[in-house]
Amino acid sequence: MGSTIVLGIESSCDETGAGLVRDGPLPGHAVASSMDEHARYGGVVPEIAARAHAHSVHPVIRRALDEAGLRLSDIGAVAVTTGPGLSGALQVGLAGAKGIACALGVPLYGVHHLAGHVAADTLEHAPLPDPCMVLIVSGGHTSLLPVRDLARDPIVHLGDTLDGAAGECFDKVARVFGLPYPGGTAIDRAARAGDPHAIPFPRPLPGSYDFSFSGLKTAAARWAEGHVGRELPVADGAASLQEAVADVLTRKAVAACRAYGVGTLVVVGGVAANSRVRSPAEERCRSAGIERRVPPPRLCTDNGAMIAAVGDLLVRAGAEPAPLDVSIDPSAPLEHAAPHPLAAGTVAA
Ligand code: KG4
Ligand code: ZN
Repeated sequence: MGSTIVLGIESSCDETGAGLVRDGPLPGHAVASSMDEHARYGGVVPEIAARAHAHSVHPVIRRALDEAGLRLSDIGAVAVTTGPGLSGALQVGLAGAKGIACALGVPLYGVHHLAGHVAADTLEHAPLPDPCMVLIVSGGHTSLLPVRDLARDPIVHLGDTLDGAAGECFDKVARVFGLPYPGGTAIDRAARAGDPHAIPFPRPLPGSYDFSFSGLKTAAARWAEGHVGRELPVADGAASLQEAVADVLTRKAVAACRAYGVGTLVVVGGVAANSRVRSPAEERCRSAGIERRVPPPRLCTDNGAMIAAVGDLLVRAGAEPAPLDVSIDPSAPLEHAAPHPLAAGTVAA
């Protein structure tokens, strides 16, 4: 069981990812992005994303196999994102995964995209300690999760965003600041030349494990409007926004670790690639005596290896594979790593 090679396929948004995992470590990993095709529209266009996935899925799988020095016939299981995400984009990945699983006669696992983000950290570091506190910060989600066994246990939510996500806040404010898509990386780059304390942007919902970014978005927009007719000091705006987001995220995450006596904080998702989110998390954790784990930036943003990593956990947990008529769920709630029950007798009591 332990040496099964799992192919992971990710196509929920604008990145087509394929990754191969065997017993934890990462032998192959390739990503193709349609980001440039969306840039002139200022955001992801679903039809363009779906078409780009259809073009890229085969070459990306080929590249991942070549990188790992493996052949298609070496694959022992296929894991694929079934949600949440863009409907057409998810359909392309699932169709590809079903085709391969069916042709090879190997099991297929449907995976929740966010569970993939959580498992991404295991590709670079050791298996997740039980328990750990996970902060997921992506383009569509912001959640604080006390995680025990990702493959077996239902996922418990300690805090969630009450409105938009941290990544969406970066993307929207970047537009207002006249920065290009994708906004998160543009804000990160612009912020390098700015003063993080120039503008006192709000830190919403103190004392709660939930998050809210709408007040921050409004404050940033008001600040930009206040400069009409004058040059906007974008670097200061970007640095101050990044500071506010990083401050709120890490403060709550570290408070949660302390309150629940959890010794490890794992920060995952596209926003975990942000330089300012990474560093205060490290400083705060060090002074609280908490281990901080963040995947390398290439594994923070969407990729197929993280989906393969969940597949690997499911295989090793003896999970029931998905039926071949499994379908996508564009708004799948984060309740389980896989939307299908584990094999009888393997579920943790
Ligand atoms: O996890 P991800 O790749 O896709 C989703 O599942 O949503 O996250 C994408 C989000 C976008 O909002 C993007 O702006 C943000 O992650 N992001 C960043 C950085 N790199 C990507 N945000 C801040 N700083 C970055 N360096
Ligand atoms: Zn993602």
